[in-house]
Amino acid sequence: MPASSSNETMSKIATGPAAPGVPKTDPIIVADNVTRHFGGLMAVDVEHLEIQRGIITALIGPNGAGKTTLFNLLSGFDNPNTGKWSFEGKALAGIPSFKVSKMGQVRTFQLTKALSMLSVLENMKLGAKSQFGEHLWASIFPWTWRKQDDDIESKALELLARFKLDAKADDYAASLSGGQRKLLEMARALMSDPTLIMLDEPMAGVNPALTQSLLDHIVDLKRHGMSVLFVEHDMQMVSHIADWVVVMAEGKIVAEGPPATVMKDPAVIDAYLGSHQGTDLGVVTGRIDLPGTGKDKGSK
Ligand SMILES: Nc1ncnc2c1ncn2[C@@H]1O[C@H](COP(=O)(O)OP(=O)(O)O)[C@@H](O)[C@H]1O
Ligand SMILES: [Mg+2]
Repeated sequence: MPASSSNETMSKIATGPAAPGVPKTDPIIVADNVTRHFGGLMAVDVEHLEIQRGIITALIGPNGAGKTTLFNLLSGFDNPNTGKWSFEGKALAGIPSFKVSKMGQVRTFQLTKALSMLSVLENMKLGAKSQFGEHLWASIFPWTWRKQDDDIESKALELLARFKLDAKADDYAASLSGGQRKLLEMARALMSDPTLIMLDEPMAGVNPALTQSLLDHIVDLKRHGMSVLFVEHDMQMVSHIADWVVVMAEGKIVAEGPPATVMKDPAVIDAYLGSHQGTDLGVVTGRIDLPGTGKDKGSK
């Protein structure tokens, strides 16, 4: 990517030079001093992080970097030891995950959480934002929720069609392949009309034939006006679709910027090389195209 287009991205997204914690022009998430430790291990130690609205941000880093833990904190599935963060300008500390999702922030899991003994359609319905049927007045006036139940069902079927799962609507979720479960999880997340969708390794364990379709769906989320934050450790994958990349290592944000810039950042190369992950090393060195790299750990 020529430097000029990289600079252009910069000025639209960040208010300063690409560096960990750089403020964004229109942040949807702002986090400050968020830490989470497990015993002696500091899994997350984020001084400042802003996620820009309306773009695709990739959160990358070697295994154990703290990406999933950060996701859990931001989405209310876990509580930090210190820190505060906000979503759409509203402070989120202490707000449980189901309320966070009603506010418009949904996430999917690295290990999919489709309920195997429910049908695909039933799984979708569970993703709907307000279940009127749960409310007292709806049980007194059942027709009000019956109407809503119909709306939910047609929305679910529409989304299933978009994700090419409509033929499976009545099958148990257990019968889906790994990739189809990932698609189901993404489709289910959309049932609540989120403004921010957070995907934890949406491509992990997915048959390569489905990877492209998942990537297309992620780009499509942005086209539908959503902000997307996704975790991935394959840099090459990230560079195809991300507008902005945030790199974590050992709990900290070590770099952020447009994909082309980040992949040349020595801190990023160090983070991956330091992780001794053969696969990551191959991908990273292949991508950034340094002379003599590929297997050559010593020459960074
Ligand atoms: N519930 C937990 N209890 C103890 N240690 C944990 C727990 N969750 C995560 N960790 C540790 O925190 C670190 C970060 O993990 P994680 O957030 O899953 O990393 P990533 O998603 O980047 O691979 C790892 O060292 C992991 O072993
Ligand atoms: Mg993880």
